[in-house]
Formats: sequence, structure tokens, C-alpha cells
Amino acid sequence: MNFKRNILITGGAGFIGSHVVRLFVNKYPDYRIVCLDKLTYAGNLANLRDVETAPNYDFVRGDICDYEGVLKILGDYHIDGIIHLAAESHVDRSIKDPFAFAKTNVMGTLSLLQAAKLYWESLPEGYEGKRFYHISTDEVYGALEPNGGLFTEQTPYAPHSPYSASKASSDHFVRAYHDTYGLPTIISNCSNNYGPYQFPEKLIPLFINNIRQHKPLPVYGKGENVRDWLYVEDHARAIDLIFHEGKVAETYNIGGNNEWRNIDLVRVLIATTDRLLGNPEGHSLDLITYVTDRAGHDLRYAIDSTKLQQELGWSPSLQFEEGIEKTVRWYLTNQEWLDGVTSGDYQRYYEEMYKGR
Ligand code: NAD
Ligand code: DAU
Repeated sequence: MNFKRNILITGGAGFIGSHVVRLFVNKYPDYRIVCLDKLTYAGNLANLRDVETAPNYDFVRGDICDYEGVLKILGDYHIDGIIHLAAESHVDRSIKDPFAFAKTNVMGTLSLLQAAKLYWESLPEGYEGKRFYHISTDEVYGALEPNGGLFTEQTPYAPHSPYSASKASSDHFVRAYHDTYGLPTIISNCSNNYGPYQFPEKLIPLFINNIRQHKPLPVYGKGENVRDWLYVEDHARAIDLIFHEGKVAETYNIGGNNEWRNIDLVRVLIATTDRLLGNPEGHSLDLITYVTDRAGHDLRYAIDSTKLQQELGWSPSLQFEEGIEKTVRWYLTNQEWLDGVTSGDYQRYYEEMYKGR
């Protein structure tokens, strides 16, 4: 079958990537969607179970750091658009193992950029109709004071954690490839996502899982840090819009306009989860346990997404209460998924399945 477009989505077996793959496979039957993922601890083919047999979908297990391998995939599939989400994404892990973050987030992105450049430059039409879209984070902007305004696209980069430093570095490489070689790049920087299929090391799924198992809820420091939460499907919709209608060389901020102090968010999670589990009100409040703060813990993130709203007409579709209710319900009705990813069974399964390939 001849497809109208051939799009590579890296990191598509992860949390946000799986929502982007699902949206594109279902919304664009005339596009071929190729998911490239290394299946690290955070990648899980179960996240894509509902699209895996779609005629316009292909999965390739591979590492973005493998430049030759990436180059071959681009050629084999005639890739004309790349949506790059593959990354090491957890701040706490980056504090323990910064090298892994530099390797995947910086060197992996560089390998992908160079492969795209070489492949597209080898075609008669060159960069015409091509797009390299890099998915980044609001953490590159550093931290805000409690009443310190919002991050805009003009906010200077000031990353504090090895994770955000690696993402900032990858953003710089993406811009450099546009400015130096003319590669048609776009970047978006998004705030904290929540929703189904998020690996339960991140605050929201970790705490829902712990409430379900009546385990302590480790709140870092005093729980006063502020994050701006966006439902993951709203992020996926923004990615679709920016990929198709965003301007080359531009940056777009994506955010929920939905700031919560961690401790207030945890109380909402407890109330919602207890209610859905049929527990009496306040049942799990005593699980809150204040623990040593995260090193270099950014106080507040908050995004100004006016540009995206005004230029491309995007806005978040879900109210936070609705999004949290949907999310808690999803984790409680998908306990098998939660148990699978926390037991590590799924990882052993992949190793077996891909042995020798
Ligand atoms: P995730 O950790 O859930 O998924 C990452 C995916 O990348 C996994 O499937 C993993 O197997 C894959 N991967 C890791 N290293 C790879 C490699 N070397 N080669 C190929 N695949 C590899 O991450 P997420 O939360 O879905 O985040 C996706 C992207 O969005 C990241 O770039 C992240 O920085 C960015 N982002 C995340 C958030 C958030 O709140 N989660 C917010 C803004 C931006
Ligand atoms: O802002 C976007 C970023 O959001 C993304 O780029 C990252 O990939 C994503 O992981 C997320 O980073 P955070 O560090 O903000 O997310 P996390 O869920 O790890 O933590 C949210 C807040 O909750 C943060 O202030 C730390 C705190 N926290 C987290 C955990 C895991 C706790 O208090 N206890 C915990 O156990």
C-alpha cells in the first residue's frame, strides 16, 4: 500500500508516545506510523495493544543511539516525518545515573538528527515536505518563584537536574541542526502530563498504586512544590496540531494552566481513590509520609501556552477534576497492567521474545 506519509515516532511504547501513536494510527489511516522504541524499563508493548494489528502500524525495536540502525529504518520506510519522544524521563533516576541521560537524550537525539539530515539530503526533493519534531519539557526553563510569572517561549534556559540539562542540550542540538543545515525542525516544551499508561515511578500513578495497596505516600520535602498538570491526550492533540500546522524553527509551549502544590494534589488523589475503592472519607490520609527532599528540587513550573492557543487554536479539553477521575479509574480497572509493570514480568517477557534478534 502506498501511504500519503511515513512517520517515525520514537519512544512510542512509553507513556506519552503510546498516546501519540494511538492518535495518529486511528486518525490518519492513510499514514504509515512506525514506532521505534528500545523497550527500556519504561517502554511497554502492552501500552499499544489496541493498535498493534492496524494495517498502517509497524513496530521496530531499536536504540536511537544506533546511528546506522536509525539510518536504515529511515530509508526502509521512506520516513518523511519524525516525532521524537524517546528519552530517559525520570528526574530521580537522572540524579542517580546522569550518564544514561546524556547518552539517550543528548547523543540519541544527535544520532537521530544526523541520520535524518543524511537521509533527507540524499533524496531528490531534499528537505521539501519533511519535518523533525522534537518533544521537550518545561523543565529546561528552570524553576519559578511562587508568584514568579510563567515560562514563555522567550524564557532563558536554566536547567537544574541532569534530566533537564540533558533535555536542554538536546533542544540546543535540534536548533543547531536547523540553523546550521536547514533541517526543518520544530520543538515543543510541555508541562507535567498525567493519565493512563504512565510508569508508576512518577507521582500520580505511584501514589494511586500505593493507596490501592495501603502503602506510604512519600511526599518530598514539605510538599510545597508546584507543577502544572495536563491530561496526556491533550498533549497528544497538541503534538498532532504542531506537527501538521506548526512553523518550522519555532518553539511552542504546551501547558494545562493548572497549577497544584504537590500536597494539595496528593489530597485530591487520596479523596478520589478512596471514594472509588469504597473506603471511608479520609481513610488513606495517614499514608502521607514526608521524606527527604529531591536534590535540587525545582520549586515551581508553570507554562504560558498563549502562542499555541492563539496561533494554532489549541486549548486543554479536560477539567482537572474530570482528568483525575478518569485517570484513577483507569489505574484501578487496569490493575493487571500496574502489577505487570511493577513486578518486572513484562520486561523478562520482552527479553525472551526478542532473544537473538
Ligand atoms: P517514558 O519514560 O514513559 O517513555 C520513554 C520511551 O522511550 C520508552 O518507551 C522507552 O523504552 C523509550 N526509550 C528510552 N531510551 C530509548 C532509546 N535509547 N532508543 C529508543 N527508545 C528509547 O517517557 P514519557 O513520560 O512518555 O516522555 C516522553 C517524552 O516527552 C520525553 O522526551 C520527555 O522528556 C517528554 N516530556 C514528558 C513529560 C511528562 O510529564 N511525562 C512532560 C513534558 C515532556
Ligand atoms: O515538567 C515536565 C516533567 O514532568 C517531565 O519532563 C518529566 O519527564 C516528568 O517526569 C515530570 O517531572 P517531575 O519531576 O515534575 O515529575 P514527578 O512525577 O517525578 O514528580 C512530580 C512532583 O512530585 C515533583 O515535585 C516531585 C514530587 N514527588 C515525586 C515522586 C515520584 C514526590 O513528592 N514524591 C514522589 O515519590
